[in-house]
Amino acid sequence: MSSGSFSDKPLLRSNSGGRTAADELPIQNPELLVQNTVAMERILRRRSLQLRDKQQEWKESPEGQKMLEFRRSLPAFKEKDALLNSISQNQVVVVSGETGCGKTTQLPQYILESEVEAGRGASCSIICTQPRRISAMAVSERVAAERGEKLGESVGYKVRLEGMKGRDTRLLFCTTGILLRRLLGDRDLRGVSHVIVDEIHERGMNEDFLLIVLKDLLPRRPELRLILMSATLNADLFSSYFGGAPTIHIPGFTYPVRAHFLENILEIIGYRLTPYNQIDDYGQEKMWKMQRQAQSVKKRKSMLTSAVENVLEDADFRGIVYTLGNLYPVGILTQLVSISLSMFFAT
Ligand SMILES: Nc1ncnc2c1ncn2[C@@H]1O[C@H](COP(=O)(O)OP(=O)(O)OP(=O)(O)O)[C@@H](O)[C@H]1O
Ligand SMILES: [Mg+2]
Repeated sequence: MSSGSFSDKPLLRSNSGGRTAADELPIQNPELLVQNTVAMERILRRRSLQLRDKQQEWKESPEGQKMLEFRRSLPAFKEKDALLNSISQNQVVVVSGETGCGKTTQLPQYILESEVEAGRGASCSIICTQPRRISAMAVSERVAAERGEKLGESVGYKVRLEGMKGRDTRLLFCTTGILLRRLLGDRDLRGVSHVIVDEIHERGMNEDFLLIVLKDLLPRRPELRLILMSATLNADLFSSYFGGAPTIHIPGFTYPVRAHFLENILEIIGYRLTPYNQIDDYGQEKMWKMQRQAQSVKKRKSMLTSAVENVLEDADFRGIVYTLGNLYPVGILTQLVSISLSMFFAT
């Protein structure tokens, strides 16, 4: 496990200004130290070349070409060079972009690819934080697939109690909490080359706290790069917090909007209107709807009429009916009562 990778062992917390157990080792023989450094550099160079060959091989394969074609169609691709230039020239860069433009899956990948192409693959270590564990897991899986690899090779993830990463993991997606936890034992984030804090616009407590800690860390690690990503245009707020850091906006997808009216569609498909297939304003066939309404009214009226008739027959209203009967025959009376009742129920 390289120094830039997350250790599986519990993090050591010392009371000596954040120094870890490695700092407490006795001073080694300087000659041995030089030999070790040379050997380590040779190993790193060999691994970097392996990573570069593997990346090239994938890009040239038919599946890799297909994936590249999709990735090139994302809005982030147009800004790739501007993003990489800005990151190489500034310690902090704020990136805003509309949802789906490729911030999370593409930007960390652009950095990894450019480091691998430059022969620094084995020595770079990119950490990209996500506010939720589910997104850390899902995004890492997607990025590994886009690189034609299994999860845990050059791309991995780490969330609480779970992780998938290996010796060669150079891009790690983790929750904000995991990075904060690491900062407890490794205040300088030694070995880490890039920190990407995603979804900063959500303003979660952990994310805001992480920004405070990282702002404090930046002067101690001038070569460390910090990239803040936001889905909204509130980038200026974060830029001013980091002393006017440059901001880059990635425009989203734009689709042409064309209006089609239903009448035109019916004409195009040759749909013929007849008295039986008329369509009303709500898209329902008129005849069918009218029939249904007529049936339900008829049904309700007949039920009411028979109910009133039954009541009148059973009740001894002879006197009243007789008196009223001079004016209204029983049939009309029944209809009047049932109409009143149906009006009552209809309101
Ligand atoms: N698991 C996946 N499977 C297939 N396509 C995916 C997957 N994840 C992302 N994509 C594609 O990649 C594009 C970029 O996704 P990405 O997550 O990088 O966007 P984003 O800019 O980070 O969006 P948001 O602001 O919503 O986080 C999406 O538009 C989608 O088409
Ligand atoms: Mg995203």
